[in-house]
Amino acid sequence: MNTNLNHQSKISVLFVCLGNICRSPLAEGVFRQIVEDQGLGDQFLIESAGTGSWHVGERPDGRAILVAQQHGINLDSRARQILEEDFSRFDYIIAMDRDNLRVLNKLKAEINSSTQITLLRSHDPDGSGEDEVPDPYYGGASGFENVYQLVKESCKGLLQQLRLA
Ligand code: 4NP
Repeated sequence: MNTNLNHQSKISVLFVCLGNICRSPLAEGVFRQIVEDQGLGDQFLIESAGTGSWHVGERPDGRAILVAQQHGINLDSRARQILEEDFSRFDYIIAMDRDNLRVLNKLKAEINSSTQITLLRSHDPDGSGEDEVPDPYYGGASGFENVYQLVKESCKGLLQQLRLA
């Protein structure tokens, strides 16, 4: 991977899901905590966005806030929709599922961007072969704990890969 890390620029990572209130805010918070735990906070720019616009301006879903709190993470993002400028601001755009990936790749092609877009779970070295973070919106609290665990393992792998790049 090309990390573009030098004294002037940070490694920039944008996590993307559909609504930007469940999965991608969790991924943003989890990845930030892992990065900060390793003393690398000032080397990264970390944000999240949604492909859809329904929840723009909202805080994360209460169930996402709760599961994050249970793991010592404070989610403080506000939902926003992906912007054209994100394709130049971010080195890495990380999608939660294949629908998100399809939308992002279409936008990328339309604007001739060369940013790297991957599925989050492709960064989990011990992944079970599943490549999506399932949408927990219409389920119960256990779906959010499952998302947290999947996101955590994938974010650990992502950071390791970025540090080795
Ligand atoms: P997210 O979950 O993409 O993980 O934020 C969803 C949030 C809202 C909706 C769908 C998924 N929705 O249909 O409003």
